[in-house]
Amino acid sequence: MKKNFLNLGKQPIANSFLSSISKKSLRSEYFYKLLVSFDTKSFLVSVKEPVNPKIQYTDKYAHRASESKTMRAAFKTTALKLQKRFKPKMIMEIGSNDGVFLKNFPKKKVIAIEPCKNLAEITKNKFKTYPNFWNKKLSKKILKKNSKIDLIFSANTISHIPNLKETFQAIFNILSENGVLVIEDPSLSSIIKINSYDQFYDEHVYVFSALAIDNIVKRYNLLLFDVEKISNHGGSLRYFICKNSSNYKKTLRLKNIIEEEKKLGLNNFNTFKEFAKKVHKSKKQLVNLLKKIKKKNKKIISYGATYKSTTVFNYCRLGINFFHYVTDTTKNKQGKFTPGMHIPILSPEKGFNESVDYAFLGAWNFKKEILTKEKKFIKSGGKFITHVPKVKIVS
Ligand code: TMP
Repeated sequence: MKKNFLNLGKQPIANSFLSSISKKSLRSEYFYKLLVSFDTKSFLVSVKEPVNPKIQYTDKYAHRASESKTMRAAFKTTALKLQKRFKPKMIMEIGSNDGVFLKNFPKKKVIAIEPCKNLAEITKNKFKTYPNFWNKKLSKKILKKNSKIDLIFSANTISHIPNLKETFQAIFNILSENGVLVIEDPSLSSIIKINSYDQFYDEHVYVFSALAIDNIVKRYNLLLFDVEKISNHGGSLRYFICKNSSNYKKTLRLKNIIEEEKKLGLNNFNTFKEFAKKVHKSKKQLVNLLKKIKKKNKKIISYGATYKSTTVFNYCRLGINFFHYVTDTTKNKQGKFTPGMHIPILSPEKGFNESVDYAFLGAWNFKKEILTKEKKFIKSGGKFITHVPKVKIVS
C-alpha cells in the first residue's frame, strides 16, 4: 500500500527553464503537485503522480552531464572499473546524455539510448545512438541488428522512468545470459541522513534503496547481487543486477548495506514521517536566515541553476524577493529564468563578482569543487549558504 509522507507543494518541471517571462509564456507553464509516498510492501519511495515523460524529456533538455569536472572524472573511473571487472564485449547505456560515460569505451562496442533529441544529436556521429525512450519495442529493434548486451549501464535514469515493469522486462530481453545491469541513482539513505529533500522533483519518480531494488527486480527474473556506495550527487548507490539464471552470488557488501538500511528504518513508514518533519523545519530555517541577511541589505545570489534548487525555491517560495539572480556555467541555461519562481540566470562571468555577499549553494552536491574554485570569493569575505545537511553559512 502506498502512503504519502511529504507534500512539497505545487512544482514546475525542474528542467523547464523559461526563455521569457511574458504573460503568454507564464500562462503555459506546467505545474504538478509534488507528493511523495512510501510503498509499505516493496519499500519503494516514489512521486505519487509522475509527470508524463514526453513533457519532461524534450529537445530542450538542459542538463549536460559533461558540465562538471567531478562528473567527467567519476564517469571515466567507473568505465575503467566496469571494463576491468566484467570485460563486456557490448555495452549499452540507457540515458546516455552527452556521451560522458560511453566515450570511455571503443566506439564499435557501444550503443547509446537517449530520448532527448538535442542530446542524441551530440552523440549520433560518435557512436550508435537511438533517440528513443527505453522500452520493449526498442529492445527488440536493437536486437534485430545487434548481439545481446553484456553490460547495460544507466546512471540517474532508471529512477526517472515511471514504468519499471516495462523497463526491467526490456532489460531482461536484451541482456546476455551472464550480462550485468549496473544502475546508479541517488540513495534514499543519504537523502534521509542529510535531509536533502530537494532530491525529490519530477524527474526522480523513484528514490531507490537496496531494499526496494532487491524486491522489485525479483519480479522480473532478475537478481540484485552487489551494491556499492558512491559519492555522486550527495550519496548514491551503484546496483549490480544479473539474470536469476546467471552465475553471480550475493555479496557480503550487499548484505551489509541491506542491514544498514533496515537499521536506518528504510522499511518503516515512521522513518519517513519523521523525515517530513525535518524537511518542514529546514524550510523555516532557510527562509529565516535569508530574511535576516536581506534585512542587512546584503546581496544574495544562488550558485548553480540545479533541478534540486527548483524544488527548494518553489517549496520555500524563494524568488527575486531574496535572490538577485542565479549563476550557472551551462550555456543553455544562461539568459533564461528558473522554473516556477522565475529568477534570472546569468553566466558566472557576468554575475559572480565582488558585488555578491552571499551565494546559496544550489549545486551543494559539488560543494568541494565549488569551494576550491571560489577561494578568491571566500577570501574577500564572500559567504556560501547551504541547506544540506543543515541550514548554515559556510565561510
Ligand atoms: P546537477 O546538480 O543537476 O548536476 O547540476 C549542477 C548545475 O550546477 C549545472 O547546471 C552546472 C552548475 N554548476 C555551476 O554553475 N558551477 C559549478 O562550479 C558547478 C560544479 C556546477
